[in-house]
Amino acid sequence: MARLHLLLLPFLVATVAVLVSPFGRTLAKTAKKSDDIVNGPLLTSKINAKRTLIVGPEDEFKTVQAAIDAVPVGNAEWVIVHLRSGIYREKVVIPETKPFIFMRGNGKGRTSITHESTSSHNAESAAFAVHANNVIVFGISFRNSARAGLPNTPEIRAVSTMVSGDKVAFYHCAFYSPHHTLFDDIGRHYYESCYIQGNIDFIFGGGQSIFQCPEIFVKPDRRTEIKGSITAQDRKEEDGSGFVFIKGKVYGVGQVYLGRANEAYSRVIFADTYLSKTINPAGWTNYGYNGPTDHMVLGEYNCTGPGAADASSERVPWARKFTKEEADKFITVDFINGKEWLPAFYY
Ligand SMILES: *[C@@H]1O[C@H](CO)[C@@H](O)[C@H](O)[C@H]1NC(C)=O
Repeated sequence: MARLHLLLLPFLVATVAVLVSPFGRTLAKTAKKSDDIVNGPLLTSKINAKRTLIVGPEDEFKTVQAAIDAVPVGNAEWVIVHLRSGIYREKVVIPETKPFIFMRGNGKGRTSITHESTSSHNAESAAFAVHANNVIVFGISFRNSARAGLPNTPEIRAVSTMVSGDKVAFYHCAFYSPHHTLFDDIGRHYYESCYIQGNIDFIFGGGQSIFQCPEIFVKPDRRTEIKGSITAQDRKEEDGSGFVFIKGKVYGVGQVYLGRANEAYSRVIFADTYLSKTINPAGWTNYGYNGPTDHMVLGEYNCTGPGAADASSERVPWARKFTKEEADKFITVDFINGKEWLPAFYY
């Protein structure tokens, strides 16, 4: 009975939402919690695809990759690839030639893609990779089930998900790996209510991304002496890239830095976020980087909790503490031109 309620709830919420407001955007403005606005049925109605490919043990497609393979090269109309509840043990790649895929699961607790692979290359190790533009993903867990390996071995990378298409959004997804979890490589991306777990540099790359209401869990990793970092953003010049975290929470076991400055223009902002004591008082590190720190944009705005800048007098001198005016241009979907392409978003 309880299970039935759980399954029905998102549909009821969506039904009420649609009845209350004929305009999705109007509704979005008044929603209090992201759960009120962004769910599978709402995204489905917004995306309005003509074709649905169903993946499941009793369905036409037995593997996720078989369904992706069935999408035509040069696809120009939205196609739903629906994954029934269950664990899919495979590597999944959406190639550059197959845009406009809406990959929909039944919720991050019910549908998952699991694959074990390690490599010396991040891209090769990825359990799930999106190379196409215009991809929307809802309600799926992505897990690279590799064990944390030995330090300093070449087979060190174990990426859960790699995102290198433009205009890619994940809603209510989860990403698991021992470290190097989410390779946010390049392009404009949006992550809404996602769970991300890892240790060393576990959200990394040169993406231009908003993480709305993320839950970030730091796992202990005893392989190295150094402390890990949640982020390692690769901005090399004054381009639009950067990672913006809004209204999330960060907690876990052991200590990490908010980010590692690994390029001269690295840009990461944590705003309105709860930071537990798992954040080292220094906040940021430039471990492995010897260049100047004056062009880096690494800092916080209005964060709370024992790990926030307000609770520490030991932040590195180059950490920024943004004013409201500075923060305002990051804490909006305009940072990724979201109003032009996101089917739904949280204000
Ligand atoms: C600061 O963050 C809290 C959430 O932690 C939010 O409710 C509040 O509106 C924020 N204040 C400002 C001035 O942005």
